[in-house]
Amino acid sequence: SLAALINAGTPLDDWPAEWFAVQDNIRQTGLLLSDNMPAGAGLRAALQGGAENLLAEIKQSGLRGRGGAGFNTSLKWQLCRAAPATPRYVVCNADEGEPGTFKDRVLLNSYATQVFEGMALCAYAIGAQHGYLYLRGEYRYLLPPLEATLNEMREANLLGANILKQPDFHFDISIVMGAGAYICGEESSLLESLEQKRGVPRVRPPFPVTHGYLGQPTVVDNVETLVAATHIAVHGGEWFRAHGTAQSAGSKVLSVSGDCTAPGIYEYPFGISVQDLLEACGGQDAQAVQVGGPSGALIGRAEFGRKLAFEDLATGGSIMVYGAQRDLLAVVRNFSHFFAHESCGFCTPCRVGTPLLRKYIDKIASGHGTPYDQAEMARLAMVVKRRSHCGLGQTAANPVLDLLERFPQVCTERLLHQDYAPFFNLDAALN
Ligand code: NAI
Ligand code: SF4
Repeated sequence: SLAALINAGTPLDDWPAEWFAVQDNIRQTGLLLSDNMPAGAGLRAALQGGAENLLAEIKQSGLRGRGGAGFNTSLKWQLCRAAPATPRYVVCNADEGEPGTFKDRVLLNSYATQVFEGMALCAYAIGAQHGYLYLRGEYRYLLPPLEATLNEMREANLLGANILKQPDFHFDISIVMGAGAYICGEESSLLESLEQKRGVPRVRPPFPVTHGYLGQPTVVDNVETLVAATHIAVHGGEWFRAHGTAQSAGSKVLSVSGDCTAPGIYEYPFGISVQDLLEACGGQDAQAVQVGGPSGALIGRAEFGRKLAFEDLATGGSIMVYGAQRDLLAVVRNFSHFFAHESCGFCTPCRVGTPLLRKYIDKIASGHGTPYDQAEMARLAMVVKRRSHCGLGQTAANPVLDLLERFPQVCTERLLHQDYAPFFNLDAALN
């Protein structure tokens, strides 16, 4: 059994392989997932047009980072290419750690060649000779097939020296395992970890495009961004730009989970409404949806008409559906435990604030919280949000804040001494 293996300290590599045989439950394909293009198609097209042309196509496409933040990809690549220092590096952020997000796992499992090709395209554009794929610790079982794909690509001259007989294009990729820390998905912590140091976020700026791995210019891109770049190299920027919305071009790969009849992987053009997605996945009865994981937004039915797009509801890919019977306080409590556990401890607002938020929410969930506790929790949540050093702390209080703002009754009906509630000004605490 699992418990016996853990208790015996059996190394992960010796666990039965079938335990890791995860089915890629792809429900809806779109621009990327429907196109199983032949290996090397992106590189061949890019080498024919040259690096400048590739950058122009990426710019034309309007591609933005798929990890969640949506930074302009062509600008990132241009800035790195323009940085005077060499060597430069490409890093693929495959440390997919946001709860409810599993779309990169599917891309790595079923579309690995396109991921690696995207890295090679980026290398060609910025002038890098080496790349790293930083793989989430929990995805260790993907390491052997990913290494096998790298070897096939080397044999096909899609990696290594003189790629596709190009005299000056040499590029290879190493895979580095993460060790299971959520913070190492934050790009600067990831770079620290890659350098064999403790994963603590750096001060940005300077950004990795000028000061990244080993202090050298580095592009850090999400798995899906790199897959999209491969498709753009083949089909062109115009093709990609023709889908999605004005500010969010192309499609988004989404991992849908929770109280719906058809959880799994969906790909839709940006701009699809939450309601349409719920109808597709059988989650019409939802009382709430968590868009973008716990660091994103918790929305109720009144907002289901909103669009999934950077200009409205941004998401790195996580969609969690909460049915009518789901206890939202229990959900938020779970997330507050997650953030308190994952705080790296570097800065005080997050190191101290996230366990305190956990304590307040535990107290309220157990029926011992008072209006004072609720107001203090709200005030503290704002401190954690505004004063934390990195994105983890700045978003750790989102579930608590969204619950208080959008579902206030869920908290207040569990409070002791509700008669005293008017004495504690929740609105003031939230502003
Ligand atoms: P950010 O907006 O600070 O940066 C995004 C990217 O743009 C980075 O690569 C950064 O280096 C680059 N960048 C930003 N400004 C730049 C400039 N002036 N010059 C050059 N490069 C620049 O966002 P951050 O903190 O890197 O990521 C936050 C996002 O990550 C959130 O949207 C969150 O939802 C998402 N996230 C995703 C997770 C996942 O598993 N996919 C896990 C946790 C958070
Ligand atoms: Fe670490 Fe949290 Fe501070 Fe980020 S906000 S540096 S995770 S303690």
